[in-house]
Amino acid sequence: MNIMLFAQTQDMCIFSPASPPAESIHNVSVLVLAITGAIFLIVEVVLGYCLLRFWRSAAGGSAAGGKEPPQVYGSKPIEVAWTAAPALIVFVLVLVTTRTLWEVNVDPPKPRAGDGALFVTVIGHQWWWEYQYEYYNGKKLGFATSNELHVPVDDAQQRRPVYLKLKSADVCHSFWVPRLAGKTDLLPGRTNHTWFRTAEPGVYLGQCAEYCGTQHAKMLIRVIAEPHADFEKWLSNEQRPAVEDAAVQKGKAAFMAQSCINCHTVRYPNSPAQGRFGPDLTHLMSRASLASGILPNTSETLHAWVADPQKHKPGCLMPAFSLNEDDRALMVGYLSTLR
Ligand code: CUA
Repeated sequence: MNIMLFAQTQDMCIFSPASPPAESIHNVSVLVLAITGAIFLIVEVVLGYCLLRFWRSAAGGSAAGGKEPPQVYGSKPIEVAWTAAPALIVFVLVLVTTRTLWEVNVDPPKPRAGDGALFVTVIGHQWWWEYQYEYYNGKKLGFATSNELHVPVDDAQQRRPVYLKLKSADVCHSFWVPRLAGKTDLLPGRTNHTWFRTAEPGVYLGQCAEYCGTQHAKMLIRVIAEPHADFEKWLSNEQRPAVEDAAVQKGKAAFMAQSCINCHTVRYPNSPAQGRFGPDLTHLMSRASLASGILPNTSETLHAWVADPQKHKPGCLMPAFSLNEDDRALMVGYLSTLR
């Protein structure tokens, strides 16, 4: 199931928008491409015509009969035309760009009961995404997950917009899911906002779009857009504390005894694992991918990842702890139960 969900790919093309901001950006892009494409065509056609018409042949005269074109100096009508036309084109482009900015940059509203809106704070880390779920439908949430952003889709009853607050824990990143919205930077010491809303359930892929260090290319985003009922189910699971499975108590003890807990959280009452530096592992196995979308999330890949993260993501901030095989198997056994 996880493998299938992981393997689900989708185009990241800006020409198939599935959300109002992406639609606005798509429209302005098509208009700009059409205008600049027309200018390009006109210039090339005139250039080609002049090359052929006034070609100087080896025999001396030109292909068109040996005449040079008439030489024009200081023509007022021509000067006015080539000043006014580009100015008009630029003016039109400024107007449509301004309108697009207006549509895309929406100030997030205050959460209120029954608004159907989801509010999430996104924090960019080297090289993964932290999502702090703040409010949904006016209800306070207060849990964190990473890399896979679950959102509800619009339905007949209600629009369900998603408002993201974007911050960075270290360097500049950029949140970009092309079919949902334009790029928005995550900058240290600053808060940015973006939003989207879609009626099409599915997995939307995205990518960090600002060079942020060696593993920038492996900082992938997956947005899982689900019908309201499925989203609610996911939400209530995420809000629960970590699963307690009597069968893996030894694995749990092994995990809690390692320095893993300095960076990772596993949420349950009096949990010693309270680290905030790496992804929250409370519901690790509810995610289809590992290490910011680069590996399918299974017991095998988890084992390989814990054994040597540097092999899969060289330079990442999780070191390879030299655990013995038995301890590692116990720990992965425990982590595999965190659904
Ligand atoms: Cu984060 Cu590039």
